[in-house]
Amino acid sequence: MANSDDNLLKKVIAHAKEYGFVFPSSEIYDGLAAAYDYGQNGVELKNNIKEYWWKFMTQLHENIVGIDAAIFMHPTTWKASGHVDAFNDPLIDNKDSKKRYRADVLIEDAIAKIEDKINKEVDKAAKRFGDSFDREMYLTTNPRVVEYQKKADEINQRMKDAIEKSDLASLRQLIIDLEIADPISGSRNWTEVRQFNLMFSTELGSVADEASKIYLRPETAQGIFVNFLNVQKTGRMKIPFGIAQIGKAFRNEIIARQFIFRMREFEQMEMQFFVKPGEEMKWYEFWKEKRIKWHKVLGLGDDNYRFHDHLNLAHYANAACDIQFNFPMGFKELEGIHSRTDFDLKNHEKYSGKKLQYFDTEDNKSYIPYVVETSIGLDRMFLAILSNSYTEEKLEDGSERTVLRIPAPLAPCKVAILPLVKKDGLPEKSEEIMKELRMDFKCYYEDKDTIGKRYRRMDAIGTPYCITVDHQTMSDNTVTLRHRDTMEQERLAISALTSKLQESVSMSSLLNKI
Ligand code: GAP
Repeated sequence: MANSDDNLLKKVIAHAKEYGFVFPSSEIYDGLAAAYDYGQNGVELKNNIKEYWWKFMTQLHENIVGIDAAIFMHPTTWKASGHVDAFNDPLIDNKDSKKRYRADVLIEDAIAKIEDKINKEVDKAAKRFGDSFDREMYLTTNPRVVEYQKKADEINQRMKDAIEKSDLASLRQLIIDLEIADPISGSRNWTEVRQFNLMFSTELGSVADEASKIYLRPETAQGIFVNFLNVQKTGRMKIPFGIAQIGKAFRNEIIARQFIFRMREFEQMEMQFFVKPGEEMKWYEFWKEKRIKWHKVLGLGDDNYRFHDHLNLAHYANAACDIQFNFPMGFKELEGIHSRTDFDLKNHEKYSGKKLQYFDTEDNKSYIPYVVETSIGLDRMFLAILSNSYTEEKLEDGSERTVLRIPAPLAPCKVAILPLVKKDGLPEKSEEIMKELRMDFKCYYEDKDTIGKRYRRMDAIGTPYCITVDHQTMSDNTVTLRHRDTMEQERLAISALTSKLQESVSMSSLLNKI
């Protein structure tokens, strides 16, 4: 990994603020916890990530269409989806530190510690045995590793049973039995475990009598489910087909921390893929493969991704996994891929009294389709790119630079046009070039400060190319093109710029690799 120091997250947060990517929300009032505003460069990066996802999902798959549903939905939606009853976090307080934790997260952290021990044993053995090392064999035969794994499985099973039965006393007992201490104070003085619903609610209507409780959607997916038949009929969609959506979601997260990783207002990019019952596992595997490929062609490093199967399935799923990314805080969930069965459509049918079935002309019968969902947090994707691309470099001449190696098609600004001096017609020539290029690319013009300082500012926001207009330009219509990552410069005719830039900064250059 390019960046692995402990301070990386702090540096990324400071950099994001200094260069107009992310600001704390309502900062002049000291901010609001777990809410953030995207600045002038942040919004461009965010829009480019959205475009990359949207084009891949809807443009490269003929059987996927998009929608944009309202955030407010009929309150029964959330009863049917199970969120009113089951979208809870089990919380526990430490009586000494007064800090609140998710009980399941405390237990998962304890399991992760055991898994770390297993990984250390495996790494040691791999070094010892070299090329002849058989990982699978070692995992199943080494007595110490087998013992660790047995312990981890037992804890997991106890946690799963307790969660499934909503047995909060057993969940607490597991924390006590494992002697889990408050990570901050080290105290083991715990309260009971309580359930806490994560949905925000508000009231609809101006007169109190008429007002009814409605929720801010905690996932965008339900807007897709309730529109399933509208889209299927008006789009004449045939199963298998998908509906994609990008939009805001809201969760009253208790432990909201780690910058934009866990927010109370965030954005999701979700796709529900409707399939024939019984074929869901085939499509689950299909989407796992497609989605990991979408990530890997960005070039953030294949080793920075891994799949993590869910052992404790959400109330709607029969199989589920995460794509985890190596964030500055370690491997964490970036995207979820879930086989949601017919849970949602079946319940919406039940609660609405409306048939939500598909007539399959091949089989000559109606059924409620099964659903495979891909769900990625836009803000987490933003953090993955920002933290991975943040690089501090020492240069040959002893100076330093901070550069964001953002994948070029996603960079907020694609090219800067910089007249070497602010006279002799160079600014006018630069503006001429800018007027042409800005039809295709997000450009930036700057004529203040030395050229070196201007290059550094562009490096800091991840601009892949700088065009320098000098006196030679005035006589032969050529410019220098400086590459962000290598800092190499080449001389190029102005007429060749558009096609040269297209090769590496266009969205299609990225989509073509998938
Ligand atoms: N429709 C399924 C669903 O919402 P999820 O695993 O709860 O599944 C999907 O959420 C993705 O949304 C996560 O993988 C994560 O990237 C993002 N996400 C969830 N909660 C978030 C939060 N509080 N802040 C930022 N992103 C979040």
